Amino acid sequence: MDKFACGCCAMLQEVNKIKMQYNASLIELEKEYTKTKHCLEIIESSRIAFTATLFASEKFRCFGDFNVDMTIRYELVFLNLGGAYNASTGIFTVPRSGVYSITVTAYSDAGSPGRHLAACASLLVNGKAYARVSEENAKDQEDSATIAVALSLMTGDKVYVNLSPGCSLCDEGHYNTFSSFLLYSNE
Ligand SMILES: *[C@@H]1O[C@H](CO)[C@@H](O)[C@H](O)[C@H]1NC(C)=O
Ligand SMILES: *[C@@H]1O[C@H](CO)[C@@H](O)[C@H](O)[C@H]1NC(C)=O
Repeated sequence: MDKFACGCCAMLQEVNKIKMQYNASLIELEKEYTKTKHCLEIIESSRIAFTATLFASEKFRCFGDFNVDMTIRYELVFLNLGGAYNASTGIFTVPRSGVYSITVTAYSDAGSPGRHLAACASLLVNGKAYARVSEENAKDQEDSATIAVALSLMTGDKVYVNLSPGCSLCDEGHYNTFSSFLLYSNE
């Protein structure tokens, strides 16, 4: 072998070494990228939060009373990250198991002082009541109450608020709200 061929051979070896090193780092980078993408997907699908209020208009309206339990359909949706709250049913279907913060505010205005007032609602998960609010009196005209809980929920659980029989919620917009957000995921 002449001197020139030998130099060429050494260069080829060097190029191959670089190629292999390049390949190895590329494979490593691809692995890291896949891991990062997966983490990002988890973070994105964990963005679950909604807030809805009972009435979209600011005209005085009432929901109820009825003679059976009635699921409250909070019609004005301010935020629905993850799209899990359905305004046509009033049901929040848990998209990802985890611990959720849930808040319900109940308010009613009897129209004038002394008139019968009954604002009563229950927070249910799959039909089981977790918390209730009830305000009944004949002394003043307005009353309000709040439920705020943290619950561990499973994917597919149905969370909603029922109005109790004989009760009603009357307001002129944005007094009655239903909200939830994921505190942390169990998945
Ligand atoms: C680099 O990787 C590709 C695909 O995995 C392979 O075809 C190629 O032969 C590798 N090159 C070297 C120098 O290892
Ligand atoms: C909301 O619920 C209604 C009634 O069950 C259904 O027809 C509709 O598809 C649901 N909307 C969404 C976005 O899931």
